[in-house]
Amino acid sequence: MLRLSCSPPLLLALPANLRILRVATRFYSSQDASSAPASLTINGKAYPSDSWTNVPPSILKHYGRQLHIQPNHPISITRKLIESRFPGFKNHNALPPVVTVGQNFDSLGFAPDHPGRSKTDTYYINKSTVLRTHTSAHEVDVFRANESDGYTISADVYRRDAVDKSHYPIFHQMEGALTWDRNDYPSNQALLDQIKADYDKLPRHDLVVEDPNPTFHPQRNPLQEQHHSPEEAEIISAHLKRSLEDMVVTIFNEADKALAAAGHSSEAEKEPLKVRWIEAFFPHTSPSWEMEVWWRGDWLEVLGCGVIEQPLLIRSNVESRIGWAFGIGLERIAMLLFGIPDIRLFWSNDQRFLAQFEGGKPMKRFVPFSKYPAAPRDVAFWLPKTDSTPTVAATPASTSSAPSSAGGQSTEPAITITDTPAFHENDLMEVVRNTAGDSVEDVVLIDRFTHPKTGRESLCYRVTYRSLEKTLTNEEANMLHEQIRQELVTKFGVELR
Ligand code: DAH
Repeated sequence: MLRLSCSPPLLLALPANLRILRVATRFYSSQDASSAPASLTINGKAYPSDSWTNVPPSILKHYGRQLHIQPNHPISITRKLIESRFPGFKNHNALPPVVTVGQNFDSLGFAPDHPGRSKTDTYYINKSTVLRTHTSAHEVDVFRANESDGYTISADVYRRDAVDKSHYPIFHQMEGALTWDRNDYPSNQALLDQIKADYDKLPRHDLVVEDPNPTFHPQRNPLQEQHHSPEEAEIISAHLKRSLEDMVVTIFNEADKALAAAGHSSEAEKEPLKVRWIEAFFPHTSPSWEMEVWWRGDWLEVLGCGVIEQPLLIRSNVESRIGWAFGIGLERIAMLLFGIPDIRLFWSNDQRFLAQFEGGKPMKRFVPFSKYPAAPRDVAFWLPKTDSTPTVAATPASTSSAPSSAGGQSTEPAITITDTPAFHENDLMEVVRNTAGDSVEDVVLIDRFTHPKTGRESLCYRVTYRSLEKTLTNEEANMLHEQIRQELVTKFGVELR
């Protein structure tokens, strides 16, 4: 936990209704549910626990921070900047994170066996209740309330994930959607004309756009034939893409200005901004895309989007509406807007961090304050023998509950030890996080092999300890590391090497 003696823990500065009143839980892994307490109390409400419960205290202690609405917080400044590109949209910024499995998955059309539902990826409060894994969890409710044609939803979202400089189990997303109501128009042509007129009113930009594929493709990116005419899908998609292009132009121009102001103008001017549209799959949209931005020498996934699945709108009782939606991760955008090098910094209460940001002023690059030394430690172990020998699989980002884009996560396919009764890599990540908290910078698999005779798997991970607020002594790093080693033995029955 990042705390400085001069600044009180932010949790206590929050109104009582945002605090966790009582957290009656302890950490247990997704495989160790027998020791679950009878209930979890979150924000004053008790939820019965069951064999699905896997929310650790390290997660709950961040509950209520609401970085996206803290004045002058970089996440909040980023949110406002994006919101400003969608005038007239209703902005929902206070939707609480506890949602039903129905809201998070079923309402969006996630298949019953979608990997995102797994306990290794999602924080379950109990079998029917989760900490939302994405802001899309609120789409149906907001459509059903039918208060505005356009809306955004910004919120904290929760995923069991790797530990490194760009991954944190809590991050922030913004959902955006815009629909047109067929009932508002005397004819289909009048509706098409209106969307076209709205499209023509969108700000123009000089961005280089690579968009090589047709708007829809029967196998790769289908039109919802039963519900939309090709003309409708075309114009909605054109409106969607231009709106989002405009948004990234704004963001990246701001980032360039901040770079120039910090004296890095040559870097900023190196290459013109360009974006590309990549066909994608989401249960809640079709056709769908991810947008990537060429930024300082790399293609960067920025967001996911598409034409809203009509069954979702029908379920929301707004069957006469058609339109588009997108989801964007705010951390990644904030990191590149301000040049913030480590995702843990967002949670810092350190004034050397917080005092650097001011909303309503020209963006300024983050000036790193001194880094404390890193203490890497390796842990190697044999996996327990199981009938199903674990295999290492590359999990494509699109199979997770959310694409890497909206999660602000890496574009590399994650190396994942596929589910076995005994060990999943995310369990290790959680042991690390629960033991060492924010004192761990990252955890990487550096070696694995299978014993030629016994067939047993051996894994070796490097855990890099580095606190953002002090130098960790050797003894402290050793102690944390030893605790982690022992937890691995007791929770997963691994054999240390
Ligand atoms: N919910 C998706 C996620 O978390 C992101 C997303 C993709 C949202 C496409 C959307 C969308 O609204 O249309 O990864």
